[in-house]
Amino acid sequence: MSTPPPPTPRALASGPEGPGALRPLLDTVLGALDTGRRARGGPLPAGGPEAVAARLRDALGEILPEHGDPQALRTLVHALAEGAADPADPLCAAHLHCPPLAVAAAADLAATVLNPSLDSWDQAPAASELEALVTRELAHRAGLADAVVTTGGTESNHLALLLARESHGGIRLVHGANAHHSLPRAAWLLGLPEPVVVPAPSGTLDLAALHRALTDVAGPRGSLLVAATAGTTDAGLIDPLPEIAGLCAAHGARLHIDAAHGGGLLFSDRHRAKLTGLEAAHTVTLDLHKLGWQPIAAGLLAVRHPRDLDVLHQHADYLNADDDTASGLPDLLGRSLRTTRRADILKTAVTLKTLGRTGLGALVDHVCARASEFADLVHDHPGFELYDRPVISTVLFRPADATDDAVAAVRRRLLTEGRAVLGRARLDDRLWLKTTLLNPDTRPDDLAALLKLVEGTTHG
Ligand SMILES: Cc1ncc(COP(=O)(O)O)c(C=O)c1O
Repeated sequence: MSTPPPPTPRALASGPEGPGALRPLLDTVLGALDTGRRARGGPLPAGGPEAVAARLRDALGEILPEHGDPQALRTLVHALAEGAADPADPLCAAHLHCPPLAVAAAADLAATVLNPSLDSWDQAPAASELEALVTRELAHRAGLADAVVTTGGTESNHLALLLARESHGGIRLVHGANAHHSLPRAAWLLGLPEPVVVPAPSGTLDLAALHRALTDVAGPRGSLLVAATAGTTDAGLIDPLPEIAGLCAAHGARLHIDAAHGGGLLFSDRHRAKLTGLEAAHTVTLDLHKLGWQPIAAGLLAVRHPRDLDVLHQHADYLNADDDTASGLPDLLGRSLRTTRRADILKTAVTLKTLGRTGLGALVDHVCARASEFADLVHDHPGFELYDRPVISTVLFRPADATDDAVAAVRRRLLTEGRAVLGRARLDDRLWLKTTLLNPDTRPDDLAALLKLVEGTTHG
């Protein structure tokens, strides 16, 4: 049998020729991912920003050559993989940056090939139904009624403030000092008054201070929006949700819970109870590109009542003409602030169905257990100080007796040498190294190696 000719550069990904065109290209991509990873040889490229940028510029060459280069796919995928910070490497453990599941990445390819656009039914007949069903199911798991798809925690928080403003005609945000920066930023974007910042001296929102704030800043009922956090960015801590919900109810304040980080605990029998109180919120931010092993983007905003989303309604005759809607074509335009919108829900739907709740829960339990083991290692090592036991899978630690400058220098040296990606967080007015363990393949040996590496870098 003769081998088929290579696909022409202008072959389409879908249609009858699509699979035949894609298959060899996928081989090229998978090969280049592998050669790039080997060339990197560690969790991130060595040499720091200038060296990485120079290598990338060399690989890229002329950006828009007069005549095309058939090797571009291999060259650029290799270059990107060689220069990646790879969350699948156990020593890449800084941020809420997860290694995506293969099955989710494969599903995402299908979304890319089919290219449904979720702003009108005639561009996404099945995808729109899939999105409606899966978002509702995820919202129900959080104790709410419905959810919309977003690009991540930032967009979800922004949307939560917008819904609150629209349903109450002007609101003021009250958030903890531990809240994600996207919350005050959303208040700024929406032209809301300066938020009230409630102290969080031990990393979670202080209840007595919240009570004082709600008493002192009292306005018309519902004009205050309290934002609590279930899984802080820096330490993975969970605000006391039931107590905060009780205070909001007593003061007539609206409650938003940013569970972008901690929302994945909902899948776990062992850890779900940490999210008790979530169901009392008016809106909840969820984000499965953190503790959910999804390729970016996989955000959601869940709402208490389906009608809460009505304020997003828009009319554009080319997408949702009244007579089309009246004759039964679903109106999708009110399910986002965006217009053209990819079918990000497919990878999530495939993941939920492939692993099931217990499969996802097992991944959650596993990374939480690894974090606990890492905390034990740190605690038992005389050369390190542990901030606290992990609540989710974030462990903060620092070399004992080091200055903040020395802690920062350790992190930068590991980054520059391409040996480990650790984060940084300031708590108790001291700088800590941060590990967020999201890789379910990390082994106990990897944790020991990580600590040894930091020890060697501190004293080296
Ligand atoms: C608690 C929390 N909320 C919101 C966000 C923002 O999410 P995204 O980066 O997906 O916009 C983050 C990001 O780390 C986060 O930790």
